[in-house]
Amino acid sequence: MSSRKFLLAANWKMNPPPAAALENAHGDRSKNPYHPHADIDVVVFPTFLDLQRCIDAGLIVGAQCGHPEATGAHTGDVSMAMLKTAGCRYVLCGHSERRKDHHETDADVAAQAIAALEQKIHPIICIGETLEEREKGQAQIIVKRQLKGLPLESDVTIAYEPVWAIGTGKTATPAQAQEMHAFIRSHLPEDRRESTRILYGGSMKAENAEALLKQKDIDGGLIGGASLKPEEFGKIVEVAERLSAFHLLHP
Ligand code: 13P
Repeated sequence: MSSRKFLLAANWKMNPPPAAALENAHGDRSKNPYHPHADIDVVVFPTFLDLQRCIDAGLIVGAQCGHPEATGAHTGDVSMAMLKTAGCRYVLCGHSERRKDHHETDADVAAQAIAALEQKIHPIICIGETLEEREKGQAQIIVKRQLKGLPLESDVTIAYEPVWAIGTGKTATPAQAQEMHAFIRSHLPEDRRESTRILYGGSMKAENAEALLKQKDIDGGLIGGASLKPEEFGKIVEVAERLSAFHLLHP
């Protein structure tokens, strides 16, 4: 039996939290898909400015990035230690938009993940190839390179986000995603292979969530656009809850 509970991570990127996410947190939580659930983990990733009000609303919160050093001359950055103090339980490391816009390297991403673990924040480490790399047949080589140097012997989550599927409406087919997830799993240390969650990210939405989450090595989603739409996100939560027992029984 697998211990890999589904994890749905709502990455709101540079957008305000959907109003519905902040409602009913202390009242009728069944109306709020972003609230913590019993059978699956749901975590929201707001901007730094919205972290506190999401925590106050009773949500489980992660940061979209964090600096590995605790303090220092890093204008505009926020450290993992500060995120911990603020109440973050998770942090994204190496999202492709950070790798592209802020030139984060594989070594930077590894340092972030290690610093997060030191602060007892759970890192969700993002990896994935570009369209050009996939078309050249290099997808696995890139992913293998991105995995190298990561603290995979620790309790981390990997998010496979093919860059060509992010925000484009083009989703990896369930078979393409499963193939890469199995490849990633095969590169995890043996004693972490069964327990490490590997999320899929890239245009996951209500209409494709079921086919993706039915794949044996897909343990949840890192969801951008669809997570900003409460009804759409609610449908993905419903799918994950429905498939949860099956996923746990059939690793
Ligand atoms: P979309 O779901 O909008 O494609 O974004 C995926 C993503 O980048 C989540 O981190």
